[in-house]
Amino acid sequence: MALYRLIRPLLFRLNPEIAHHVVISGIRLAGKIHPLNQYLADAQRGQLPSHPTELMGLYFPNPVGVAAGLDKNGEAIDGLAMLGFGFLELGTVTPLAQAGNPKPRMFRLTEDGALINRMGFNGKGLSYLLNQLSQAKQHVPVGINLGRNATTSNENAWRDYVTCLRAVYGVADYVTINISSPNTTGLRDLQDGESLNLLLGRLKEEQTRLADQHQKYTPLVVKIAPDLDDEQLIHFTKTWSAHNLDGIIATNTTTTRPESLRNASNRSEHGGLSGEPLASRSREVVKKLRQQLAPDVPIIGVGGIHDAESANAMLAAGANLIQIYTGLIYKGPGLLREILTHLKTAQD
Ligand SMILES: Cc1cc2nc3c(=O)[nH]c(=O)nc-3n(C[C@H](O)[C@H](O)[C@H](O)COP(=O)(O)O)c2cc1C
Repeated sequence: MALYRLIRPLLFRLNPEIAHHVVISGIRLAGKIHPLNQYLADAQRGQLPSHPTELMGLYFPNPVGVAAGLDKNGEAIDGLAMLGFGFLELGTVTPLAQAGNPKPRMFRLTEDGALINRMGFNGKGLSYLLNQLSQAKQHVPVGINLGRNATTSNENAWRDYVTCLRAVYGVADYVTINISSPNTTGLRDLQDGESLNLLLGRLKEEQTRLADQHQKYTPLVVKIAPDLDDEQLIHFTKTWSAHNLDGIIATNTTTTRPESLRNASNRSEHGGLSGEPLASRSREVVKKLRQQLAPDVPIIGVGGIHDAESANAMLAAGANLIQIYTGLIYKGPGLLREILTHLKTAQD
């Protein structure tokens, strides 16, 4: 979209978090203007190459989704769907609203096409997100990404996940268990050892109960970090398989700082690095997951997708669907068109 090329220099003059609010507010507003939004949605969808995909029993108009963290509170659902995304992942949502980490907490590494963030699950909480979702009119699959509040211990984390799962089960198309954000102290420990086993066991049990209660099966996927070593990844895939969950999202942001980073001033900021420098590692994790798991296990690939080539490389590594976040900040919604125009899926 040429428009984004025009406004990007202005946005990039703003503090990154303020720029984010401006963009989300703009998309939210565009999505609220009926019937203009329906007209634009139809026009946009009509122009974009369609790549229908089925996964986890769901129908996706195309395999390119918005990654978690962009619309944490579900405020821009209609606007984002209007842009033509194949699915949206809202959240991370926690049971209670929380402020997140002190600001500044989002940094651009423009030369690297990257961001570092340590937001810390800032958000308006579960009830607010559900209320936003109930007002949305667009129909693309919506995943809801769940986390725990900062004040909840890891021992009690399962309670936060179960509280959220119960609340969103009936309205989400799929639910993501986020145990991989680096900005909530200790959260990533849930990916390892017996903690993972206990958590996934409890959530599977709850999902089974809820499926019966709602007479609806909502798939449960787990989002992992790119920083798991080989041994941890094997432990993860074994535990994940033992609990018969429905999919995996790989990956969240990395706490590592690749040597190749060019931006000297922001590279030492604490937090998770996303964008181009993450692409090869995220892809490697997807490849390893695909090698370790059955060929039909649903995998959503995310991390550093910034053009058609990196999108196709993620699909070739074994992902069934892909998500984007940082690439959108740098390229705007034109990135979606670029990817869809050159997309090579297994069906093509
Ligand atoms: C500012 C920011 C906030 C994020 N917040 C979340 C979040 O709340 N939950 C989550 O699972 N991932 C979150 N992510 C991670 C993204 O969903 C994604 O996994 C990661 O950024 C890699 O993709 P990308 O390189 O396309 O950005 C966030 C990323 C950024 C840049």
